[in-house]
Amino acid sequence: MRAVAEDAGGFYPIGEKDMFDCEYWSLEQAKLGKGTPPPFQGRVVMVTGGAGAIGLATAKAFAAKGANVVLVDRDQAALDAALSQLGRWHAACALDIAQANAADNAMTDAVTALGGLDFLVSNAGTATGGALVELEDDVFRAAFELNFFAHKAFATAAAKLMQDQGRGGQILFNISKQAVNPGRNLGAYGTPKAATMFLMRQLALELAGAGIRVNGVNADKIRSGLLTDAFIKERAAARGVSEEVYMGGNLLGREVEAHHVAEGFVNLALMERTTGHVITVDGGNTEAELR
Ligand SMILES: NC(=O)c1ccc[n+]([C@@H]2O[C@H](COP(=O)([O-])OP(=O)(O)OC[C@H]3O[C@@H](n4cnc5c(N)ncnc54)[C@H](O)[C@@H]3O)[C@@H](O)[C@H]2O)c1
Repeated sequence: MRAVAEDAGGFYPIGEKDMFDCEYWSLEQAKLGKGTPPPFQGRVVMVTGGAGAIGLATAKAFAAKGANVVLVDRDQAALDAALSQLGRWHAACALDIAQANAADNAMTDAVTALGGLDFLVSNAGTATGGALVELEDDVFRAAFELNFFAHKAFATAAAKLMQDQGRGGQILFNISKQAVNPGRNLGAYGTPKAATMFLMRQLALELAGAGIRVNGVNADKIRSGLLTDAFIKERAAARGVSEEVYMGGNLLGREVEAHHVAEGFVNLALMERTTGHVITVDGGNTEAELR
């Protein structure tokens, strides 16, 4: 390869060993290397339950691909700690997502702090235990408020904002294997999760025309605020197995961690022709397979 340099008298050819020649090409290559922006650069993602195990792992995974994150959680101290792990150019919004107007307030915060919203990861939830025939009605309804109605409120508020913005978007739900594979004493958890899975499909149908994709993740047995170390220890001991064997109770025989679930969300976000879909992140469970 040859280059041409200019002096006062016009153009003259220079050889490959000329310093100008070397400098020119190394600078060009450096420029090319820097030319590929991360896939989510300039995109804003809201993660509910963002101070929890799966929520924070998901926020970090999106931030690593260039997104700016709005963490939503009810626990201010945990939110502050989570935000400090994400670094600059991210935001946090402390509220109870099951309260009236919580979704609208969170959308306003996203617009004010970061200029809009491109992805919602509707993640916050909690597992209410107990046999359905014995469970008090108000306990069952409270489980629905968080594990279904809050998802519905955030998803519809996000969809309206995305429609107004006119640049498409994505809604991702953290569902659960409970939506398809009931667990003993987990009816008040699985029933709203199953409704949330249907919500995902319905919104995928209704929002596709606006370029808004809607997908979900069904995970199982992730070490977190729901499945605590103390609970894992107790369950493993009750079954007479090690914690490792208990947590690896799936087809692959390996523990599934929060960052694996986060990768599921990121991969769905990157799959530009996929909507109305649930992926499993559970190490393999024949009873929880969708197809
Ligand atoms: N851990 C698992 O094995 C597992 C499996 C499948 C699905 N999930 C789902 O993953 C999601 C995240 O749970 P996790 O396992 O990371 O648990 P986690 O307890 O670590 O995180 C949940 C977060 O949600 C927040 N939260 C709960 N209620 C809230 C409310 N009313 N308003 C605002 N924030 C609220 C909590 O403060 C917490 O930070 C849940 O929807 C859960 O159902 C978990």
